[in-house]
Amino acid sequence: METVRVGLLGLGIVGSQVAERLECQRELVTERTGGPVELARVLVRDAAKQRTYLPSGAQLTTDASEILEDPGIGVVIELMGGMEPARTYIERAIDAGKPVVTANKEVMAHHGPELLQLAKRRGVDVYFEAAVGGGIPLISTFKIDLLANHISRIQAVINGTTNFIIDRMARDGAAFDDALAEAQRLGFAEADPTYDVEGWDAAFKLTIMSTIAFHGRIDPDAVYREGIRGLDPVDFRYAADMGYAIRLLAYARDHGDEVELRVHPALIPQSHLLAAVHDAYNAVVIEGDLVGTVLLYGQGAGGRPTASAVVGDVIDLVLSMRKGVDNRISVDVTRPRRVRPIDEVRTAAYLRLHVADRSGVLAEVAKILGDLGISISAVLQKQLIVEHAAAELVILTHPAREGDLRTARERLTALETVYGIPAFLRALIPEEAM
Ligand code: NAP
Ligand code: HSE
Repeated sequence: METVRVGLLGLGIVGSQVAERLECQRELVTERTGGPVELARVLVRDAAKQRTYLPSGAQLTTDASEILEDPGIGVVIELMGGMEPARTYIERAIDAGKPVVTANKEVMAHHGPELLQLAKRRGVDVYFEAAVGGGIPLISTFKIDLLANHISRIQAVINGTTNFIIDRMARDGAAFDDALAEAQRLGFAEADPTYDVEGWDAAFKLTIMSTIAFHGRIDPDAVYREGIRGLDPVDFRYAADMGYAIRLLAYARDHGDEVELRVHPALIPQSHLLAAVHDAYNAVVIEGDLVGTVLLYGQGAGGRPTASAVVGDVIDLVLSMRKGVDNRISVDVTRPRRVRPIDEVRTAAYLRLHVADRSGVLAEVAKILGDLGISISAVLQKQLIVEHAAAELVILTHPAREGDLRTARERLTALETVYGIPAFLRALIPEEAM
């Protein structure tokens, strides 16, 4: 059996683990692909850098052409991250007739459909299991195991770094920046952690999953997104008093004529599967009309779990190449799916207000909400600054139209008795959570 020679673009947190598995578990890879697979060449930015793993059989290069234009290299693995030059390199590899395995969610969320179509025309494959949920088998689950279903909803904790930060803040009282630094040290965070903290990474992953689950092309820029920077430890305590945890929720729903996609911090009932997701773990709750509810849970970040998905893709790919089969189910990425504008979405809300501590204030607040058809589900009031007669008012609403919730916040802010609204978060209420 002829050796399949692999070119690896990137030898960072994930790339090092992939290189190590390909070289140090050669027998496993050979046995499972039916013949030898050799890591031939590795692209890096700085060839002199100290590495956690230095490939023994492969040459390091700083020139991508030595991989992309080498006819002897049969498979390209892209683990550089970022949009460019990663997108161009993937395109060049496909154009040269080389199948590609990538973990790059930014590229796949924005350009996945066109790259998959280009690959189809060139008769090669693009595998991207590692782009969503690290080591959790999500893409293959949607592409194969759940194909008999109409998927109606996905609720997920899909970014390890933000879950790690939230968990450290809520459970250990850690400061945001310390928790982020620890997530970076452990190799969970993106090279630019803004992608994690501001919710971009989760929005890219939700776009990729929804493209496959809902069968259509989704514009990642249309996904509503809020990050975790504004979270205040006091809200973790109030949420817990009301029976909720806080998570960065990635939520997608197929409404038929349009899809709802949003990423934002949310209160999640303590009884919900996602409330039990701690550290950098990820979980995805999928609802299908035939299967019912499915939960996928595991390590969504880190070099080793992600390498598990990457090398799994390489094995599947090389086995298919050797068998001469191209029987992977292709996803319809041509049908554009309209994303529901955020104002039209219905969601329950948590508001924390600073108000004057005197009679009639609660009635004023309730009237504004009531006039907009927003019904209150729970209220907490705490004295804030006794000498200034100020109180902290926490309100949980039943689901309401986002546009009306926005108007309510504007009208509340304009009240003389409302000093500020330091927190506005969405909530999944128990009745709609499962
Ligand atoms: P990383 O540690 O920053 O490694 C990136 C690697 O790519 C480095 O070896 C770097 O070279 C090389 N590189 C970057 N830009 C380059 C350029 N222009 N030319 C040549 N080489 C370049 O990143 P990572 O954490 O391994 O992530 C890799 C990919 O996996 C990203 O798409 C990421 O989103 C995705 N991913 C990561 C995780 C995770 O937990 N880390 C999980 C799932 C998916 P030098 O070493 O010489 O600087
Ligand atoms: N930075 C990402 C996360 C890596 O924290 O989830 C996995 O995609």
